Amino acid sequence: MMSLLLDEVALAAARLAEAGVESPRTDAELIAASVHRVRRGELHTVPDSAFDARFWADIARRAAREPLQHITGQAHFRYLELEVGPGVFVPRPETEVMTGWAIDRLGEMDVAEPVAADLGTGSGAIALAIGQEVPRAWVHAVEADPLARAWAERNITRYVETAPYTAGRVMLHAGDFGEALGELGGTVDLVISNPPYIPVGASVPPEVGEYDPPAALWSGADGLNAIRVVERTARRLLRPGGLVAVEHGAPQGAAVYWVFPEESGWRDTRNNKDLAGRDRFVTSIWSGEGA
Ligand SMILES: C[S@@+](CC[C@H](N)C(=O)[O-])C[C@H]1O[C@@H](n2cnc3c(N)ncnc32)[C@H](O)[C@@H]1O
Repeated sequence: MMSLLLDEVALAAARLAEAGVESPRTDAELIAASVHRVRRGELHTVPDSAFDARFWADIARRAAREPLQHITGQAHFRYLELEVGPGVFVPRPETEVMTGWAIDRLGEMDVAEPVAADLGTGSGAIALAIGQEVPRAWVHAVEADPLARAWAERNITRYVETAPYTAGRVMLHAGDFGEALGELGGTVDLVISNPPYIPVGASVPPEVGEYDPPAALWSGADGLNAIRVVERTARRLLRPGGLVAVEHGAPQGAAVYWVFPEESGWRDTRNNKDLAGRDRFVTSIWSGEGA
């Protein structure tokens, strides 16, 4: 069924394609749905008389390569709808796979109330997904950047409003994850992190370079500085037999594997793939003893 809105969406998709947007039709539909407050599958139900010209203002922002999620104000992550915008990293589908791995491991752990730490929580995506899907877990979310932390705080508050029984189980901590959570040393069951991992000087799309915060992206000449800090923090926090999962860039699989060597006390270090079959996160088990 055609409608004015669907005609405009088709024109907008062509404009976004010209601007180099990767998924122009999807983005045009999601912007139309957000402006008209309907689901994407309901666009044909919007009467011609209700067409809202703000649609074209938002399409212009997307054509200028502002991220879709900044325009709609929302990001979807597993079963969560998160608020995002300037100052916070937009959660990515790759991270959903690693988070799913952590949720499965926590779910099968023979521990009454497992404790997890999310290092560099950004919007709170990983910590909240664990909180939602493993309700018996306690989750400590660490974030150094005050702007990002404000978004995490908002998302945690919204989440608790929809699930009041979870109040207090996802805790936000300000600070550097290299030093954070000292009181939990040797007691944490699972450490997870999607830290900054892009080598300084690498080329990234405008949506990333101009809108994701620099502290969420860049991490030294080889991109591994923050991952090395996460490794040290995981050693400090984990109980013997505790697990770590760390996201990295697709070409970094081999290098990150060697950040978790047996000599340092790690066992069964593995490379894990994302949905596109690329190396995306490393997992390992802390033996409890290491150099
Ligand atoms: C790639 S983003 C990931 C955000 C979120 N976990 C996600 O997956 O959407 C990395 C986050 O780590 C934070 N960060 C970077 N270095 C940090 C440090 N040393 N201590 C605490 N947070 C840090 C950044 O501010 C950013 O919010």
